[in-house]
This record gives sequence, structure tokens and C-alpha cells, in this order.
Amino acid sequence: MPAITQKQILEALENVMDPDLNKDLVSLNMIKDIRIDEKNNIFFSIELTTPACPMKDHFRNACTSVIRERLPEAGEITISLPAKVTSSASCGHHGEKADPLPKVRNIIAVGSGKGGVGKSTVAVNLAVSLARTGAKVGLIDADLYGPSIPTMFGLENKRPEIVNKTIVPIERYGVKLMSIGFLIESDNPVIWRGPMASSAIKQFVTDVDWGELDYLIFDLPPGTGDIQLTLVQMLPVSGAVIVTTPQDVALSDVAKAVTMFRKVNVPLLGLIENMSYYLLPDGSKDYIFGKGGGEKFAKAQGMTLLGSIPIGGVVREGGDSGTPVVVELPDSEAARAIESSACEVARQISIRNAAACAHRN
Ligand SMILES: Nc1ncnc2c1ncn2[C@@H]1O[C@H](COP(=O)(O)OP(=O)(O)O)[C@@H](O)[C@H]1O
Ligand SMILES: [Mg+2]
Repeated sequence: MPAITQKQILEALENVMDPDLNKDLVSLNMIKDIRIDEKNNIFFSIELTTPACPMKDHFRNACTSVIRERLPEAGEITISLPAKVTSSASCGHHGEKADPLPKVRNIIAVGSGKGGVGKSTVAVNLAVSLARTGAKVGLIDADLYGPSIPTMFGLENKRPEIVNKTIVPIERYGVKLMSIGFLIESDNPVIWRGPMASSAIKQFVTDVDWGELDYLIFDLPPGTGDIQLTLVQMLPVSGAVIVTTPQDVALSDVAKAVTMFRKVNVPLLGLIENMSYYLLPDGSKDYIFGKGGGEKFAKAQGMTLLGSIPIGGVVREGGDSGTPVVVELPDSEAARAIESSACEVARQISIRNAAACAHRN
């Protein structure tokens, strides 16, 4: 018989807090499947709310040390960290609106005020980063006027399969993809009128077999037009990520995008500052477009700064060559910055979902 009991382990783990949710792991019902063997070796799982959890190592270390301290007779401690992504829909904070995508847990809109700030680059790399953590991810290229997803994934001239009148999304780097570029000739410019654009976006949602997804990301066109409105009217958007460059011009444009999301009650997950700095060979940073613009803006708007991504040839080449930088050069500064931003996005969603449920219960 093991000398240690499950109860003792739970009592010990009541001392480990989730700093984001401000409660202990036991109250949050995150500790699962505790097992103790004859030699007092301990096994259990910490069920995370996202596989992209920046807190993984912290939880593992904190749990190990609190058990060691309180139960000195413990043998080996083996902790697994599976994830069950929470859904923004599960606590019904979008009210009575019918949900056309009930199997999609969270919808993220990536927007900006202006084109050319790197919105698509960020959306693509966020999607791939989240997929690489083990999440189920989809990406919709909602920029009907300038679709860039086919090129950024090296999928020009690809056509999706249609099965039972449903479009099967093309999958690459673990991400399910849909773009108008998969349906039209690339040298055929699209001249959509507002209603046509809206109906194309609706079809990307209703006529595509998305299956079960943890995160569905929309790469929006610049600005605050019909497509953005269609999206928020049709779907329960979990939150928006705003992309900007540090320049003031971009910032004054981006304020309008922020205001739009506020007006339509889409939570702002935070800001990503792209092209923040250039990393010099000696490791120092050259803030070519000025320093701290994104941070200042985020603060003024009461938003979280989710990350700052350097400017660099590796990012652009990744987009041009069809292999995103997080796949091609995962150890580069840019890839790490994007991965950390992706974790922050996932974290903000988990926090909001937990708050919505707490509020409801
Ligand atoms: N951090 C970066 N470093 C270098 N080039 C970048 C970076 N982010 C984006 N780019 C490049 O800038 C151009 C515009 O980016 P894109 O993602 O298409 O912007 P948007 O979707 O906002 O119009 C692309 O050529 C892209 O490769
Ligand atoms: Mg774009």
C-alpha cells in the first residue's frame, strides 16, 4: 500500500495558483488522474486550457516542489500536461445568436487599420504556431481583394476538393485553410461589391467543412468595412488581435480599427507590434521606426501588448517562399517572438473564457 493518499496530494496542490485565473489548480479542477504506486511514485495530469500555455514549466515546477516539500516520502513525480481548449461559446457569453460553427471553440479576428503592416504575415505565423503546439487550427483569408494565404503557404493554383457540396479546406503545416485565391485564377482581379463580399465570407463559414477546431483565425482586410461587419454579425468572435507597425501614421489608422471592434462588442485580445526593430549582428536592437510606439498605443487604449516582432528578411522570405518563418527558422528571433505572441493570444482567450464562465455560474 502506498503511504501517500490522493487527498494529501490534492491538499498540497491547493497551494499552486494559476496566476492568470487567480485560483488554485485544485479549485480550477485542473488536476486529473492522480495515481500513486507501491513505491510512492506519483503520477497526475494538469489539464490546461490551451496547449499553447506559457505556464507549462511554471506549473510543473511549482507542483513538484510543493509535493516534495509537504510529502517528503514521495518518490518520482511524473506530471503530464494535456490540454482541453476552452470555448468562448461554452458559457454562452454571446447570448441567443445561433452559432453556425458550434464545433469551433474560439474565433480570432486579426485586423489592422492599414494594409502592409504585416497582418497576413502575423495571422499565418500565429496559426502555424498554435497548430505546432498541438491545437486544432483553421485560417480564413478574409482579404478578398488581396488574398495572400495561398502564396504564404506555397499553395498557388491549388484547388480544394468538394465533397457532398461542401468544400474541404486545404491543410498545410497543420492548419486548415480557406482563401478566395483557391477558387479564382490568381491573375483575375476580384471586384466585389459589398454584398458579394459579405456573401463570399458567409460561404467560407457555412460551405466549408471545418470540423472541430480550437482556434479559427480570420485574416481580415485592412480597415473597417463590410467584411469586418459581416464577420462580427455572423459569428461569435472571441476576440480581435490588432496588428500595427510602430509608426505614428499606422497608429492613427489603427485607432479606428480598435474603435470599430469596441463598437461591435468584440473583445480586444491585444496588440502585436510588427516590424518593431531590426536585430543587429551584435544582438542589439535598432528601432528603425521608433521605439515604444506599440506599447504606448496599447497602454492608451487599455490593451495588452501581446508581442513585438522584429523586421527581417527571414520573415519576408518566409512569406514569399511559402514556408512561414516559424517553420523555416523556428530558432530565429522573429519566430520566437511570433510563438510567444501566439501563446499570449491563447492565454488571453483562456482568461476571458474562464471569466465568462465564472460570471455565469
Ligand atoms: N516582420 C517583418 N519583417 C520583414 N518583412 C515583413 C515583416 N512582416 C511583414 N513583412 C512583409 O511586408 C509585406 C506586407 O506584409 P503582409 O503580411 O502582406 O501585410 P498586410 O496583410 O497587413 O497587408 C510582405 O511582403 C511581408 O513579407
Ligand atoms: Mg494581408
